[in-house]
Amino acid sequence: MLKFPKSAAIAALALAVCASPALAEGDADAGKKVFNKCKACHTVGDGAKHRVGPHLNDVFGRTAGTAEGYKYSKAMIAAGEGGLVWDDATMAEYLANPKAMIKGTKMAFAGLKEDADVANVSAYLKSFAAEPAEEPAAAEDAAVETEDAEVETAAATTEDTAEPGAAEMTFEASKGAFGLGRVATVEEITAWDIDIRPDGAGLPVGKGTVADGEPIFTDYCAVCHGDFGEGAGRWPVLAGGHDTLTKERPEKTIGSYWPYLSTVFDYVRRTMPFGDARSLSDDDVYALTAYLLYLNDVVEDEDFELSNENFTSIRLPNEENFFDDNRMSEPHYAQGVEPCMSDCKPGPVEITARAQVLDVTPEGEGDENAGGGID
Ligand code: HEC
Ligand code: HEC
Repeated sequence: MLKFPKSAAIAALALAVCASPALAEGDADAGKKVFNKCKACHTVGDGAKHRVGPHLNDVFGRTAGTAEGYKYSKAMIAAGEGGLVWDDATMAEYLANPKAMIKGTKMAFAGLKEDADVANVSAYLKSFAAEPAEEPAAAEDAAVETEDAEVETAAATTEDTAEPGAAEMTFEASKGAFGLGRVATVEEITAWDIDIRPDGAGLPVGKGTVADGEPIFTDYCAVCHGDFGEGAGRWPVLAGGHDTLTKERPEKTIGSYWPYLSTVFDYVRRTMPFGDARSLSDDDVYALTAYLLYLNDVVEDEDFELSNENFTSIRLPNEENFFDDNRMSEPHYAQGVEPCMSDCKPGPVEITARAQVLDVTPEGEGDENAGGGID
């Protein structure tokens, strides 16, 4: 997809190299993968918008905390006012451990452990820098070209690795009618089979206290769910809502609505923190579940320790309002009456209720708290 002579692209790239001499240090291709860790909160590239975090176009050379229209933490604004500008060194320090560098930053990200990841993601971000003013259009196309090249490389790599893999395959072929697919391996089933039942079946061995859970929650969850589970902006509320179920707009939280604690553990372990699912240890999940019980006033002692041993002794307040589906024993079904299919209701039909909008995921644009829309 060449929209201009190749020489122009090379010239534009050369300009970019001059503008940021460290470009050669990291590998933008590899950095694109690293950026997957950032994607729950940041966007970059054409049409990038603020989400949980600010968009990262043109971030190198930018004073910290100054992307227009984004609501930064006080700490980040203060860092910018104190002269912090994003360059290789400051970016590396921040990404290695955000909270150590800027105490009070609201970037709920544990940090990148590998120096190479930091260098690569920096190189990737630099490829979205605004290019020198003389050649803006050409520079943009150059970036597009690089992306195309990336796709090609990726495709080539997949082909290369697929062949030897196929030769070594010892998977059992499916015996289904169409002979499609293959039988799942034990490892695949184990990785997938992580559900936990209300009776505790499936719980891993582990433990964690309310006090252990609090700092984990602050670091990994509060950016979206608020420090006390009250929900930041329009992200889901995790606590409160007691006695609201009979109100017109019930607030359904873990404490007010959920029937079983096993769902909390299963949900958090399977999906959270949003964008970095399955990154928590089992002990972390026990601690977070204990902390969520504390936020919901189900336990009151900060030293309370939740473990696989005492898990099923905890009951959530709304459990008794859930009961097994007993429809089939109702007279109508038990007697096997033919369902009425026409003129069943005497008199005119009226609308007596309307479904509410119950989705909990903020849409992003126009949201004053810049919660992210989820693609
Ligand atoms: C869980 C959400 C989340 C994740 C994941 C995340 N960030 Fe952030 N990031 C934020 C938030 C929120 C801020 C604003 C921080 C503040 O105001 O204190 C931020 C700020 C930043 C800034 C400062 C920008 C500026 O305008 O000053 C940079 C740079 C940054 N993030 C890079 C990254 C990179 C690179 C990654 C992935 C390796 C990443 N972040 C992962 C939420 C996140
Ligand atoms: C980047 C934002 C973000 C972060 C960080 C995050 N969550 Fe969530 N969380 C969400 C969103 C969005 C949903 C709703 C998802 C849906 O329903 O599709 C959710 C839903 C939940 C729910 C279910 C709430 C309900 O009533 O349906 C629980 C429990 C939860 N998160 C716990 C956690 C915990 C614990 C952490 C930290 C380890 C965490 N979350 C980190 C965004 C986030």
